[in-house]
Formats: sequence, structure tokens, C-alpha cells
Amino acid sequence: MNAMPGMDHSAHGMPAKPAKPAVSLTLKEGEALRELPRLASQASDAGLFQAKLTAAPTTVRFAEGVETQVLAYNGMAPGPLIEAFEGDRIEIDFTNDIPGEDSTIHWHGMPVPADQDGNPMDPVASGATRGYAFDLPAGSAASYWFHPHPHGKTAEQVYRGLAGIFLVKPKADPVPAAYGDTVLVFTDLRLGADGAISENSMVDLMNGRVGDHVLVNGQKNPVLDVPLRAKRRFRLYNATNARFLKLSFGAAAMTVIGTDGGLLEAPFAVDDVLLAPAERLELVVSFERPGTVQLQTLAYERGWMGPGKPNDAGLALLTVNVSDTPGEPMPPLPEKLGTLAALGTPVVNRRFVFTEKMGMSAGGMEMGFFINDVAFDMNRVDVTVKAGDVELWEVINRADMDHPFHVHGTQFQVVEHERDGKVTPPAYRAWKDTINVARGETVRLLLKQDLPGQRMYHCHILEHEQLGMMGIVDVTV
Ligand code: C2O
Ligand code: CU
Ligand code: CU
Repeated sequence: MNAMPGMDHSAHGMPAKPAKPAVSLTLKEGEALRELPRLASQASDAGLFQAKLTAAPTTVRFAEGVETQVLAYNGMAPGPLIEAFEGDRIEIDFTNDIPGEDSTIHWHGMPVPADQDGNPMDPVASGATRGYAFDLPAGSAASYWFHPHPHGKTAEQVYRGLAGIFLVKPKADPVPAAYGDTVLVFTDLRLGADGAISENSMVDLMNGRVGDHVLVNGQKNPVLDVPLRAKRRFRLYNATNARFLKLSFGAAAMTVIGTDGGLLEAPFAVDDVLLAPAERLELVVSFERPGTVQLQTLAYERGWMGPGKPNDAGLALLTVNVSDTPGEPMPPLPEKLGTLAALGTPVVNRRFVFTEKMGMSAGGMEMGFFINDVAFDMNRVDVTVKAGDVELWEVINRADMDHPFHVHGTQFQVVEHERDGKVTPPAYRAWKDTINVARGETVRLLLKQDLPGQRMYHCHILEHEQLGMMGIVDVTV
């Protein structure tokens, strides 16, 4: 049971502790930015992270007298944040307390064994507990996340609140500690007139669900105070089902230092960034002038069918107040952050073609999302690859909207983008597990799976994944 706000749990006249909200979700603007709650390890030995995670419904109050049921891990939504180090062993007991629904925990982007990766083929029944165990290999430091992946329920369980952060840190970090390390996780929320999280409509299924409120760490446009000339490290997570976030910090200079799979070789200055659903970016932002700057959304044309096209330009997601007085002098960002291994020459080329079908039939509106003309079938292996082989995957979008492509179990490197006959290399070399494939675009990428077993690849607009835009790659030894 969660404590009711205002209820006095103190015994024998001890002063009552202020009631902690069960989840950090709030629609009040202008509150101080909160850090995501952390999940502590219960193991006493260094090198082992042991904890329990329970997914369950919990109640949050967005307004007086209105109670909204959300889903939360250990009462936290979004969250919790798990922090571990390269070389650590991870052991997590997961309990599914969602009434009447299977769930799983999928470790998005992480190199975990296939049978520990929370695939739809390995459901955890309502009321059941299972352990997930894996080791974090050397070189795996990056900004990962975790979320449910049960067959047919992933989209709904995520928009109802289940999304946590998994940071793997390196033993030695080239980014100055003085910059801090702040996770900013974006989710979006839509409530019905009754205050409940509304269910997906037909338009949501077609386009992916886009909420009414974009939240940062569960808060609406929170405030962060920094001293003049501060540099801050931010890890941006797009944990929305389907919202494309084109973002700018206004007058504050942004430098990309990392992506889904860890640090770049060298910092890369940008004016804005595009974060498709499930993508992550590490940024260093320099606050050189006193005053207020905002992290804002910019217009982005992602393709939309039917009514209700969201106006996603000009939303303030985070307000930063830069003081008049300088703080501690900041060490410079190193010119070199690390090395990115080259994957080498591919031994196989494969094509994955995204299409969508929309139309009326005798039975009503029909809608389908396909990869290579077929919808997902849990009992069908779509592709077989050999562990350790480097492959070139060509992902072709012949649909009317953008589809972010994601593959489980590994990180890949984009080689080039092609659109209207024009081929362009990516702005920087990077490890990625999710890449947006824009309308009419082809993305070529190099990838290698090291661990055997079945892996999913899919569009990370979760409604499209649910409607069939997913396949299975079987990795054999
Ligand atoms: Cu976040 Cu199957 O993915
Ligand atoms: Cu994944
Ligand atoms: Cu899609």
C-alpha cells in the first residue's frame, strides 16, 4: 500500500516525515528539476548489483480530487535509475504485479544474453517472479534503459508509466566530473476527461500515441539553476511511444558527446538534435550568458495520418536560470573522448523494407505495418545470422511516415543515409541501437551480434511494433 498524502504514520509522537509522492509525475510547471530516484543495490560486494523490481499499478494525483492510475516500477514512474559499472554482474528479481497481464523487462540496447532480454517469447505472468542475470562487459558503458516487452501489451504498459534508466559507467570517465551527469528522460502523458490515462484511439494506432504533456523526469517544464559559465552533461532519453523530439537549448551551445551506445570519439557541436522514440544522446551544454534559456522543441515533419496532428514546435521542456555570478571554473572538454572500433567488411547484405497499408474493407478500417511484407509472428524466424559475422543491413522506408528502427542485443554503426538519390554519411561515427528512418529514406548500417539466441528488430513507435512492424533474428553459433 502506498501512504496517503498527509496521513500521519509516526508512532509515539515522533514527528511525521513529509509524505513522499509515490511517483514523481506532476503537471505543475516551474518546480525544481528532480533527479530520477535511484535503485540501490542490496549486495554488499562491489562488482555485484542485486535488486528487486516490481511492476504494479499505483495512484497519482495530478489535480485535487482526481486520481489517476499509472503503472510503476517499485512505485517510481518514470524510473528508477540503475547505475552500475563495466565489469559488474547484475541480478534483478522481477515481479509482475500488473493484474491480468503478462509483462517482461527488456534491457534496451544492452548486450545481455537472449534468454535474459525480456523478449515477448519469455513472458512473466501476472503474479509471477523471475530473475534476470547478466554481466556487463568491458566497453559497454552507455546510456541504456529498460521497459516491458510483452506480446501485444508493450505500447500500453509503457504509456501507462513503465520505463526505467540503466546507466553503465566506465571505470575511468573522460568527461570532467565537474559537469555533473544529469539524466533527462522525456515521456508524454495524455489524460482523458475522467483523469484516467486515455486508451489508444485509431489515430494513435496509425501514428503512434502522442501525448498532451511532454514531461521531463515526470515533471512539466521544471527549472534548473546553474552558475554563469557552467558546463553541464545531460543524458537525453526519448521514452515516449511515438513522439519525435527536435530539440534546442536556444542560446546555450550544445555539443554531442555520446549516443545510444556510449561516447563518440570526439565532441561534435550542433545547433539542434533530433531524438526519435527510444534514442538517447549525451550532450554537454555551456551556459555562457546570464539569464534564462529553455530546452525547447522545434518543428519536425515526421508524417501524420488522419486528424489530431500534434503541434510539437515551441514547447518549453526545461527552463535553465543562469546566474550573474560565475561558479567554479570548468575544466575544458577533452578533444578526444575515446576510440570507436571499426566493424570491418560485411560478409552478408540484407534488406528490411518498411511498408504500411491503410484502407477500408468490408470489415471496416484496415491497417497494417510490415517489414518485408509480413507482420510479426512469434513462431517465425525471419532472419538467421551467425554470431560474430559483420553484416550490412539496408533499412528502407517506403511508408508515409518516419519509422525508428531498433534491434536488440547489440549496437550498430550507421554507414550512410540515402534519400532522393542523395547519399550522405552520418555527421559522426557512433554506436546506435535505434536509428530514425525518415519517409522515403534508406539507412545502411553495419552490425554484428555476438550472443546466440533470438532477438527482436522493430519500429520503436510502440503502436507500430504492436501492429506487426517487428521481426525475429535468430543468432546461431
Ligand atoms: Cu526498446 Cu524491443 O525495444
Ligand atoms: Cu530493445
Ligand atoms: Cu513505425
